[in-house]
Amino acid sequence: MAILLTGGTGKTSMHIARSLQESNIPFLLASRKVEAAAPLGMPATNFDWLDSSTYENPFKHEHLHGERISVVYLVAPEVQDPAPSMNAFIDVAVKKHGVKRFVLLSSTLVTKGGHYTGQVWQHMEDIGVDHTVLLATWFMENFSIHLHQITIKKESKIYSACENGKIPFVSTADIAAVAFHALTDVKPRNTNYRILGPELLTYDEIATRFSTVLGREVVHIKRSEQERVEQFMSTHMPEQFAKFITSIEVSSANGAEDRMNDVVEKVTGRPPKQFDAWVEENKTAWQ
Ligand SMILES: NC(=O)c1ccc[n+]([C@@H]2O[C@H](COP(=O)([O-])OP(=O)(O)OC[C@H]3O[C@@H](n4cnc5c(N)ncnc54)[C@H](OP(=O)(O)O)[C@@H]3O)[C@@H](O)[C@H]2O)c1
Repeated sequence: MAILLTGGTGKTSMHIARSLQESNIPFLLASRKVEAAAPLGMPATNFDWLDSSTYENPFKHEHLHGERISVVYLVAPEVQDPAPSMNAFIDVAVKKHGVKRFVLLSSTLVTKGGHYTGQVWQHMEDIGVDHTVLLATWFMENFSIHLHQITIKKESKIYSACENGKIPFVSTADIAAVAFHALTDVKPRNTNYRILGPELLTYDEIATRFSTVLGREVVHIKRSEQERVEQFMSTHMPEQFAKFITSIEVSSANGAEDRMNDVVEKVTGRPPKQFDAWVEENKTAWQ
């Protein structure tokens, strides 16, 4: 057995790859830039969801002991509707190469048969292949990349349209730990997991946590929906995407993420990482 990790330069796949390497389980990283970017010793292949001529590349890779890819971790490309490409690849993988199991990274707002990766989930169900769907809440890493990282570092401010909405932020290491089990357990899990962090936090509380760990005052600036769209667009984000991201923030203001569970601990045997510990580990990002 070998495991194909799409999103090969991405946050979750990189964590999974390290765990697979430590466990001596063969794997292959796949994405557009991964051949140049993969850490030394990690096998990688060029793969573009939007270019079907690359779909055979992972299956041409020669693994050390002739293993064949039988399990695939699916990370969607950042396009409005990734399902047509992802489903086309799943068909190639199953029908032509006998792939037996998929683990799909998705988000808490996605439903089976619904928008975005909901159509991928539905397709795996329809063709009857083993699959697990990871419905991840918001990543802690959202604060160490993109706009939040810049405004925390430069202005000691976090902007959002989340109002006082509570969110159980989770680390990508914990998502990867759940994915590792879904990918490697002898018995396929064939379920969906809502992957949540250890505590519900408002953005005001997040700002307080940053203040404590960084030793300077960080504040949450509440923006209206319109102000937030304009702020994103001022960074050259396309209007449609700015509206989409803002709508997710507004949904959290209305309680969409306000829930807790013990999935990470149940699947991995250890509790998910605390937000303060995550900030402490990454504090150079905002100094
Ligand atoms: N941020 C959140 O709070 C949150 C919450 C829930 C779910 N999610 C979901 O998590 C996923 C992102 O996972 P992640 O954080 O592990 O990845 P990531 O760090 O965002 O990286 C994205 C990966 O996708 C690859 N990629 C992008 N376009 C591609 C294409 N056309 N063909 C092949 N590969 C492509 C990129 O590699 P190359 O550039 O090398 O191609 C990269 O490896 C997204 O589907 C997002 O919706 C995010």
